Amino acid sequence: MIFHVDSDKCNRDGFCVEACGRRLIEMEEVDSVPTPIAGTEELCINCGHCVAVCPTGALSLQTMRSEDCPPIKKELLINLEEAVQFLRSRRSIRNYGDRPVEREKIKKLIQVSGYAPSASNARPVHFLLIENKTEVRRLAGLVVDWMRMTIKEDPTSGNVFHFNRVVALWDKGNDPICRDAPYLMIAHATESSRLAQVDCILALAYAELMAPVLGLGATWAGYMMNATISYPPLVEALNLPKGHKCFGVMMVGYPKLKFIRMPLRNPPVVAWR
Ligand SMILES: Cc1cc2nc3c(=O)[nH]c(=O)nc-3n(C[C@H](O)[C@H](O)[C@H](O)COP(=O)(O)O)c2cc1C
Repeated sequence: MIFHVDSDKCNRDGFCVEACGRRLIEMEEVDSVPTPIAGTEELCINCGHCVAVCPTGALSLQTMRSEDCPPIKKELLINLEEAVQFLRSRRSIRNYGDRPVEREKIKKLIQVSGYAPSASNARPVHFLLIENKTEVRRLAGLVVDWMRMTIKEDPTSGNVFHFNRVVALWDKGNDPICRDAPYLMIAHATESSRLAQVDCILALAYAELMAPVLGLGATWAGYMMNATISYPPLVEALNLPKGHKCFGVMMVGYPKLKFIRMPLRNPPVVAWR
């Protein structure tokens, strides 16, 4: 039995039957208690929608008790204006202060990242946290090595991405790769899991959105993400578990600058059919 229904609490509304994305729940009669459709147990992805939709808390999955799933508090819902400002005021942070990032705060980012959507609710995302600024700098240096190599071996790509300029900035003591961030969050997963890359990116996107709430700032480390695809010394330095691939890198730290306006953005290109 993948779930248990408390027949005293169940009001037979059938919401769990409707909410189950995989259609694994049935009610034999209109007023009968919901039961799993025989032989489908293995198809359950433990998304918890059946638990979350039940207004009486009657249904618990084997893996998820109703009483452990917090109710949505109406008083915490945000309105449209608040939501738009929250999303619109997120900025990529490229200047960091010296204050080290507390591990407790990173744990909060990771916790929230776990609420991002995940294909088939598989949640394949693993995190590697680089907490040592010297190590962040060393990894950034490897990305610069990759750029130097690219300039030599594939000058066209080097030019397109202005690697010469980035390398020159590095040689002058700047860090255009990780922006002197004190912290890196690296999301990785098994290569074989087909949508793992999307899951990793969504998880980091949730962490990025949560960062300012904790006084932190974040930015995607795109140069490093690119280098992890094609530069073995960087892959070796990350030393991820066997079969894992790096699918996302994010710098994190305390922002040095405060943004007071929200810049304009091109409207998305849209077609209606
Ligand atoms: C996949 C990806 C890679 C990125 N890589 C970098 C990077 O390596 N360095 C950097 O400073 N910003 C990087 N950014 C941040 C973008 O430049 C930034 O999102 C854009 O300029 C818009 O600014 P905003 O995020 O503040 O709206 C990256 C963003 C994405 C989505």
